[in-house]
Amino acid sequence: MTVPLIIDTDTAQDDCVTIIAAMMDPLADVRAITMVAGNVGFDRQVHNAHLTLNALGRLGEVPIHLGCRRPMVLPWVSAENVHGDGTGGLHIDEEGLTTEDEHGVDALLRITAEAPGEISIVAIGPLTNLALAAIKDPSFPARVKKLVIMGGSNNGRGNITPAGEFNFYVDPHAARVVFEAGFDITLVVWDPLTLRDAVFKRDQLAEIAALDTPLSEFFGHVCAATLAFDESVGIPGTTHPDSLSLAVLLHPEFVLKSARQHVAIECDSELTRGYSAISWGVHGLEPNAEVIEAIDAEAFYAYLKGILATPTVPNRPYLGQG
Ligand code: BDR
Ligand code: CA
Repeated sequence: MTVPLIIDTDTAQDDCVTIIAAMMDPLADVRAITMVAGNVGFDRQVHNAHLTLNALGRLGEVPIHLGCRRPMVLPWVSAENVHGDGTGGLHIDEEGLTTEDEHGVDALLRITAEAPGEISIVAIGPLTNLALAAIKDPSFPARVKKLVIMGGSNNGRGNITPAGEFNFYVDPHAARVVFEAGFDITLVVWDPLTLRDAVFKRDQLAEIAALDTPLSEFFGHVCAATLAFDESVGIPGTTHPDSLSLAVLLHPEFVLKSARQHVAIECDSELTRGYSAISWGVHGLEPNAEVIEAIDAEAFYAYLKGILATPTVPNRPYLGQG
């Protein structure tokens, strides 16, 4: 049985790896990609999504819907200092590359209305599109099968600020709306989960490079800027929270420990903007998410490595970097 899903993404670095895994995993049935403002310039993110499908030899096979170009309330903040342009300066000829006319928010509403209770969403950017969809149609959360969110930390450190993880920091108001909307949420956090279980170290990156496939080469390009940034801040490798979110949906056997907990998002403080306060069950708060606490890191690495080892034939040649 395949898992029909939509990827809501701010496509750069690990978002690209997520699209690759979703397109290659026989369990996944990718119905759409919806774009949201996040990591890098919006139009570059769209090009990054095309580039990723190109690396798979699957250009044009998945509809790309353009969603919200800015957060709900606050101005957009980028992570270009972390990811560069998100794909290591690669380009392909843009002639004939298409996106859908339908807005990303409307696509989320329509696709889930066509198959109520069947479609899952992997949300790996700021939650603006999801929040707007829930506001526009309050019956939306109930017809989404599972919503896997990458964001926040489990009462741990942030990345863009000491308290704030990027996705929740960029649009904390959207994150609050989503956690209060009634979705069946699974949460993949930055700290401690990603920092402990989803960092690929130099020896693993060398193994991936040695695969010498179009996908492993593409992986090296999209992760190069992030690796340099991560090492400069003391993280010993590239980070893969977005592809972990997909893996948790498709392969629940990778999950070693999780708990149903109450997640609340800070919107009003400048100092702790986007902080995810996760109650561990002793505060009398109703759980609103399954929080992933530990995964089988070796199995996750082997999963992605296996996917990157698979030969593909890119549709178009790269026009070089820069
Ligand atoms: C999150 O922010 C983005 O830069 C990554 O793609 C991930 O979704 C990590 O904080
Ligand atoms: Ca992301």
